[in-house]
Amino acid sequence: MEKVLAGSEILLRPLRPSDAIDIYLNVRHRAISRYTENIPYPYPRKAAEKFIAKSALAWKKKEGYAFAIVSRKKAELIGLISLNKVDWKARRATIGYWLGKKHWGKGIMSAAVRMALQFAFAKLRLNKVEATAFEENRASNRVLQKAGFSHEGTVRQHILRFGRLHNINQYGLLRQEHSKRHK
Ligand SMILES: CC(C)(COP(=O)(O)OP(=O)(O)OC[C@H]1O[C@@H](n2cnc3c(N)ncnc32)[C@H](O)[C@@H]1OP(=O)(O)O)[C@@H](O)C(=O)NCCC(=O)NCCS
Repeated sequence: MEKVLAGSEILLRPLRPSDAIDIYLNVRHRAISRYTENIPYPYPRKAAEKFIAKSALAWKKKEGYAFAIVSRKKAELIGLISLNKVDWKARRATIGYWLGKKHWGKGIMSAAVRMALQFAFAKLRLNKVEATAFEENRASNRVLQKAGFSHEGTVRQHILRFGRLHNINQYGLLRQEHSKRHK
């Protein structure tokens, strides 16, 4: 299976052990972990190495597909995007992502999501991709809406993060909806 996806500004490729330092330097800021469920803050130095090892294993077992988002111009890792919790019976997976702060607001994640969806539907032949976003994470809600996801509901006061309970928006995109948009 082709593992490198190329866009005009970015590439998506599987993680390598040498990515640990770039992941650490980008992800350790509170602005990144703030609206995520699983990224620890403060971010431990060894966490990126562990994440990369876990991702390689998940890829091998067909349980998850994590990609580095690489800027083509600078040839550097600027973020991550992944398809997780792959359920092969229902042919469904969950998409998650983050981008280094200095790269925000340039349409990069919208492009990365488009590429990851192409991989999910065309290569993995999934039927549904789901996603969640904290209700107050305007950028992430917008990324998902722009990519064609439907808001399927809001789970109220669901996640405790930094001492506060947050409402979580649940999104889904079906194979048939994706193919209609990309005819
Ligand atoms: C969410 C995140 C990935 C967005 O990435 P990005 O590359 O900046 O997003 P894009 O540039 O593709 O922007 C997508 C849309 O969101 C809008 N947007 C971006 N930042 C915004 C903000 N702070 N408030 C409102 N809208 C915003 C953009 O204007 C754009 O919409 P438009 O095309 O209609 O103008 C990035 O902010 C991030 O990594 N945040 C921290 C981690 C995180 O929250 N991950 C998601 C967990 S669910």
